[in-house]
Amino acid sequence: FSAFLTDSFQREHDYLRISLTEKCNLRCLYCMPEEGVPQSPPAELLTTPEILLLASTFVSQGVTKIRLTGGEPTVRRDILPLMHKIGSLRSQGLRQLCITTNGISLHRKLDSMVEAGLTGVNLSLDTLDPWQFQILTRRKGFDAVMKSMNQILEMNKVGAGIKLKINCVVMRGMNEKEIIPFVELGRHQDLEVRFIEYMPFDGNKWSEGKMFSYEEMLNIIRAKYPTLRKAQDHKNDTSKTYEIPGFAGRIGFITSMTHNFCGTCNRLRITSDGNLKVCLFGNAEVSLRDILRKSNSGNPIDEEAFEAMEKIEANRQNGVDSSTPFVRTQNEQELLHVIGM
Ligand code: GTP
Ligand code: 5AD
Ligand code: SF4
Repeated sequence: FSAFLTDSFQREHDYLRISLTEKCNLRCLYCMPEEGVPQSPPAELLTTPEILLLASTFVSQGVTKIRLTGGEPTVRRDILPLMHKIGSLRSQGLRQLCITTNGISLHRKLDSMVEAGLTGVNLSLDTLDPWQFQILTRRKGFDAVMKSMNQILEMNKVGAGIKLKINCVVMRGMNEKEIIPFVELGRHQDLEVRFIEYMPFDGNKWSEGKMFSYEEMLNIIRAKYPTLRKAQDHKNDTSKTYEIPGFAGRIGFITSMTHNFCGTCNRLRITSDGNLKVCLFGNAEVSLRDILRKSNSGNPIDEEAFEAMEKIEANRQNGVDSSTPFVRTQNEQELLHVIGM
């Protein structure tokens, strides 16, 4: 495994998240204001050849899993050719090609994505009620999301093998009543519903008091399903997995607010403007775009990148010490960037 991808805590970073765009076709209350977020000038965004060069370089160093994120990755116009090219990195060692999407336009692109080698979809969905969907996302589109979800399940029936996870951010007073209906999605369907602790943003008044904790969620689910039990977590997963005997699917919890999982973090992130971030909660970044654009060799992993990586790895220490609670200092826009929705 490449030294470049091994940090001072001996964690091997074999999972790369690439944000394809800052844009989104929804306006979730917790994420974007109605007017959207200020967009970077196009010249500052990574071009498709740059994304491909970065993807293949990281795969050559040992990355085995790539997740495409955004904003909403499907709004990037050339997502399909891009995915086909990234998919071809399988011959160089890429094993998983995943996407995190809100599902609005996924159903139109899914066939082609599966052809490209798509292995997993994390679908963001915070409500199963069409009206509530419109309140939470400020847009219509619930039926389209359902269509995408059902299409994945249908394709899986004929062997597509797409790992489906539903990401549900639980917010007090908004959707905690839907926890049980979400659990029910997994009764007959092979999918994992992941309940995410809402992360409030600094300075976002809307956020106050909306966090609904892992313990509270567990209590609600246990009361209804006393046989709920802990299942084996996959190495490096951010979520804690549970199962209910007799259910086809599984349940997960992403406890960003109450239990940190930094010790096993294996993720690297490239933002849509080409910054490499090693930690969701750190501010340190290195611009692979700038290195790429001035490098004669066209190799983004040159000495300069190595040095910059070392510096940001040092910064990461804050998050790794589990006795230190996260200090969330980033503003709304930065977090959006970094979550790489
Ligand atoms: P897989 O493990 O590949 O299924 O994906 P994921 O859970 O990492 O990614 P996804 O895009 O579905 O993100 C789900 C949630 O995980 C989001 O709410 C993120 O905030 C959170 N998340 C993703 N990566 C990290 C991380 O490194 N640290 C923390 N604290 N949260 C993360
Ligand atoms: N808190 C928790 N999860 C969030 N997401 C976006 N913003 C937040 C937040 N403030 C989720 C999205 C998506 C995932 C990648 O991140 O709903 O499912
Ligand atoms: Fe778009 Fe995801 Fe943000 Fe919702 S949470 S506005 S779907 S980027």
